[in-house]
Amino acid sequence: MDLKEEIHVYEGFPKDGISFKDINSLILNPKAFKHVIDEMSQVAKALDADLVAIPEARGYIFGTPLAYLIGAGLVPVRKPGKLPGEVSSMAYDLEYGSNVVEIQEKAIKPGDRVIIVDDLLATGGTMMATAKLVEKLGGEIAGIITLIELTELGGRELLKNYFIHSIVTYP
Ligand code: PRP
Repeated sequence: MDLKEEIHVYEGFPKDGISFKDINSLILNPKAFKHVIDEMSQVAKALDADLVAIPEARGYIFGTPLAYLIGAGLVPVRKPGKLPGEVSSMAYDLEYGSNVVEIQEKAIKPGDRVIIVDDLLATGGTMMATAKLVEKLGGEIAGIITLIELTELGGRELLKNYFIHSIVTYP
């Protein structure tokens, strides 16, 4: 299956110069969505993970069925101010703008093996901030799985110490 045919590209969204890869068209097609989750779960099964960390919002879409299939727990990675209790925060730069990610401290126990799952790896800022948060709380990164990788934005180089599996690549 050619997954790129299922990912609609919008030039100039959300601002000039950005070529936005829209996964909503892919997840609308049940065969394409199943193909993606099946590939992600095949890869994830070999990583022996306890937890799947899912950056909001689009990481939730892929990480939730994946965690279910491999029998792992879910750790929401949220934008600031959404999580109750003791929370760890990390700032990061986006392809456009900047942000902060947060994880509840009690979500990760020392030695937990964590897969991070998202829809898109661009600069790698979101993944790196998430990985640092997991490690700060004593977890280990078992691997990173993403549907899309934008290869020219340097995410793989930034994250070179981690195993990364991407399904579809664009320059
Ligand atoms: C997008 C995407 C990734 C991140 C990738 O999320 O879903 O999480 O950017 O970019 P990076 O590799 O340069 O960090 P966004 O922050 O737009 O949030 P959303 O899923 O809530 O729209």
